[in-house]
Amino acid sequence: MTHETPNRSAPDIPLAARVSEDALKVAQHFPTLVFSLDVPDSETLNGHLLKAIYAERERDKTGVRKSNFPELGSWHSHVRLHKDVTFVGLVQHVDAAAAMMCRQLGYHRSYRLRIGTMWSIINPPGSSNRAHIHPGCLWSGVYYVQAPRNSGRIEFIDPRTQNLMTPAEYIPDTKRPRICWTKVQYKPVAGRMLIFPSWLYHSVNPNRSRAKGKDADRIIVSFNLSQERGG
Ligand SMILES: [Fe+2]
Repeated sequence: MTHETPNRSAPDIPLAARVSEDALKVAQHFPTLVFSLDVPDSETLNGHLLKAIYAERERDKTGVRKSNFPELGSWHSHVRLHKDVTFVGLVQHVDAAAAMMCRQLGYHRSYRLRIGTMWSIINPPGSSNRAHIHPGCLWSGVYYVQAPRNSGRIEFIDPRTQNLMTPAEYIPDTKRPRICWTKVQYKPVAGRMLIFPSWLYHSVNPNRSRAKGKDADRIIVSFNLSQERGG
């Protein structure tokens, strides 16, 4: 009589279930790029910009209405600040950042990223910016001149609207893996510049600063970049 040893391992495990976790590879395609740059020695630059921006608000008290809420005290300048010599210091930093991007992105050397429009926004406590994009340009950016604590984060929203149609369930109260984010917020930091695709929807949370007087203002200079032939 022969004895057959019973198979005590789990019966009929599919081959796929026995593959190690390391075997599962993932590639990331079509990334959404947000560049950031901390401008060196920005305190001096910001001091000049602060004066220039308040002077411009004094000259043009009404300003313009864009993504801001003038009725909540938010002021938006005209969009040609890059033509104003007072802003040349910042323009040079934007141009330098844009040139680095062109090299990193492999853009045609006969073209450069050029500032088409540049403006400033002062958001006092209580004001914010609605979600918007910047049509007609390649890249858009923001430079923080003054950013007190809790003065409003910028939020970028997943541009893949298809990806928002059927959201997966995630582990509650746990930070999702970065590759599963559908929005991302950046805290404003004075002296920092962010540059992002002009088609990327973004908004700014309300300024909840508790600083005194003008120190509570969230002040930015924003700009649009387009590719232009010639040096
Ligand atoms: Fe914007």
